[in-house]
Amino acid sequence: MRTSICELLDIDVPIFAFTHCRDVVVEVSKSGGFGVLGAVGFTPERLEEELNWIDRNIGDYKYGIDFLIPASRIEEDDTEKLKAMIPDEHQAFIKALLAENDVPELPPDYVGHLASAEDGATIGDRPIEMLRTTLEKHKKISFYANALGTPPPEVMELCRSHNIRVAAMAGEAKHAAKHKAAGCDIVIAVGGEAAGHTGDISTLVLTPQVVKEVSPMPVLAAGGIGSGAQIAAAIALGAQGVWTGSLWLPTQQSELTPIQRSKVIASTSKDTVRSRCMSGKPNRMIKSGFTAAWDADDAPEPLPFPLQYLLTSDAAERFAHFSIDEMVSYPAGQVIGMLNDELSVRQVVQSLMEDYIDAVERVAATLEL
Ligand SMILES: Cc1cc2nc3c(=O)[nH]c(=O)nc-3n(C[C@H](O)[C@H](O)[C@H](O)COP(=O)(O)O)c2cc1C
Repeated sequence: MRTSICELLDIDVPIFAFTHCRDVVVEVSKSGGFGVLGAVGFTPERLEEELNWIDRNIGDYKYGIDFLIPASRIEEDDTEKLKAMIPDEHQAFIKALLAENDVPELPPDYVGHLASAEDGATIGDRPIEMLRTTLEKHKKISFYANALGTPPPEVMELCRSHNIRVAAMAGEAKHAAKHKAAGCDIVIAVGGEAAGHTGDISTLVLTPQVVKEVSPMPVLAAGGIGSGAQIAAAIALGAQGVWTGSLWLPTQQSELTPIQRSKVIASTSKDTVRSRCMSGKPNRMIKSGFTAAWDADDAPEPLPFPLQYLLTSDAAERFAHFSIDEMVSYPAGQVIGMLNDELSVRQVVQSLMEDYIDAVERVAATLEL
């Protein structure tokens, strides 16, 4: 399963894993693929701890980092000023959801796996500053992915100065053209079935359009990849590899709370929804009482990024921490309908490779008939 992207990043198989979990990063890179840590939910101090841990445990393998630096957002760097922009109606709506479900406050010494929107890598220039510190200190990072738009020139320059390969996400071919013009090395074509921020064009339709737009630049197909046959399909569509996220959620190493994990394992492909209720931008996540409440006729319209995220991140953490089953959600893609076992990361990579070989043999056999 080698493609040109394997040379570019010195990896054995073109399987990229996006995750908020350091163990998954290490295990995927050590299995021959490429682990990428999503930094959005970490404070600067916590990110430093996670990266030090990865550096100590990953051996001579390399890994990547992903920051959410949106092309469009409210241009305000002061968290207090941003919070003051949240209308009373929205504050009251969240308060009522917490009260209806009897959700207590988080304890004062509480530290969740992911930081709140206020403390994480979301506001103003904080993500760029965190990226700068990260690239200066962590030399096993060889790749940067920019979520939610073309990386700003400052980020491109920073990555170039550290010899880092840069990727950006595209939900439409025209996004891919912008990433190419900005000098990115790789485009990730993210289909509408994907977890997290996504457009509404399916991977099967989007990938060949993005490939055509930026060829010979390498493209990774993302959204709905859960088996080796789907990797084979991505390669057949012209992609040089795959970018996966949901696949790692039910693994033994992932960051999920027990309730989030059991929801992922029990969900069908109809149990996710694309909603602006978490961050203000369309984000695919597990359906819950929380997503339904924002869908109701009397709900306020979600706010633009990052206001909605500032409004909701504490509530989401409280629902998860206090196991309010009905209200718990998490970003997840339609592929979770295929993910019903709690395997180790290594077992997942192994089974992807075996299934890929079977799929390629099935396709090759069509030429012999
Ligand atoms: C829990 C979770 C959180 C995510 N957060 C981010 C993020 O911060 N930045 C990003 O670029 N993509 C994020 N994504 C999306 C992934 O990068 C990827 O595009 C997506 O998971 C691919 O589709 P799939 O889930 O069907 O594999 C997230 C995905 C998951 C599952």
